Amino acid sequence: MAPNIRSTQQGIDPMTSGSTPQKQGRILSGIQPTGNLHLGNYLGAIRNWAAMQADFQCLFCIVDMHAITIWQEPAELARATREVAAGYIAAGLDPAANTLFVQSHVPAHAQLAWIFNCVARIGWLNRMTQFKDKAGKNREAASSGLYVYPNLMAADILVYKATHVPVGEDQKQHLELARDIAQKFNNDYSTELFPLPEPVIQGPGMRVMSLRDGTKKMSKSDPSAYSRINMTDSEDDIAQKIRKATTDPAPLPGSVEGLEGRPEASNLLNIYAALTDRTLAEVLAETEGWQFSQFKTRLTEAAVGVLGPITAEMQRLMADPAEIDSVLKRGAESANEIASAVLDEAYSAVGFLPSGR
Ligand code: TYM
Repeated sequence: MAPNIRSTQQGIDPMTSGSTPQKQGRILSGIQPTGNLHLGNYLGAIRNWAAMQADFQCLFCIVDMHAITIWQEPAELARATREVAAGYIAAGLDPAANTLFVQSHVPAHAQLAWIFNCVARIGWLNRMTQFKDKAGKNREAASSGLYVYPNLMAADILVYKATHVPVGEDQKQHLELARDIAQKFNNDYSTELFPLPEPVIQGPGMRVMSLRDGTKKMSKSDPSAYSRINMTDSEDDIAQKIRKATTDPAPLPGSVEGLEGRPEASNLLNIYAALTDRTLAEVLAETEGWQFSQFKTRLTEAAVGVLGPITAEMQRLMADPAEIDSVLKRGAESANEIASAVLDEAYSAVGFLPSGR
């Protein structure tokens, strides 16, 4: 599962301070602390990060500044921020070997984002489908932060000169924009400051769909609790949600082509493949001809087997917020060290006078 990817950038040293020469590049990725972490976040993101952590220098962020582009209750935002940190650690991201931190603890993200607000074109932002989805029909009432959200995301990545960004498929368009911003900045200011970050979008978990509707993404904002499995769900919750998951009447096919036009079957099988670390074809060879009832029992066992220990560890960590906060404090220190150096380079490229600090 751990991808063996080299940076495609030539002539640019993406690694500033803190790099280890044998690593294949630098990863930055993040999750918004809104609502609960769910199976899509785990299979589409965190699990891949865990598989890559040995080969890359990694920074994993909790993007609280992105979260407030939509209204968040302050106490709930604080709780969810710690919960995402607990999820990272419980899912195997080693806080001693990686940098785990909170976005708002590193001011350089916002500072570089301002420059990117001046680099990115309005026409680029107008094409972003996430803004259209999240703003809904009443765009005039959306926050201006929601509109420039992708510029902040580009800053999150480029302020570390990250070379690789592992995400789920829904983030593809934002990453293309981040590359466009890096390219335009480099062109406008005649520099090679920013490497163009490579999206890493892979595996059967890159697109986990709702358990109620196989054509809709599994999401924190879906009003139906039965549409998603949360990383904090009990075994009983998981079993019940899988039992109630939408299916179709036919038995399971033996080939990937046989899943054509069967979004729910396709989704459940992809989830099973991701949970058991196999390809879809391998899984289909096991389950060919099964009825959904038999398959759902197996899927539940797999989900409980993977998520059970993570949930227990998250609960243990959440009982000790001071421990989480100290991991995040250390993370912010090392993130700040890299980010402030890159910000200085960007300020100088733009023509801002040195502050004399
Ligand atoms: P967010 O918080 O919506 O999701 C976090 C990560 O989980 C992945 N993901 C999924 N993967 C597969 N199936 C799903 N149903 C599913 N739902 C979510 C997302 O693709 C993502 O990898 N804009 C980002 C956060 C962000 C970021 C960044 C990411 C801010 N700055 C810099 C990478 C780099 C977001 O809203 O993710």
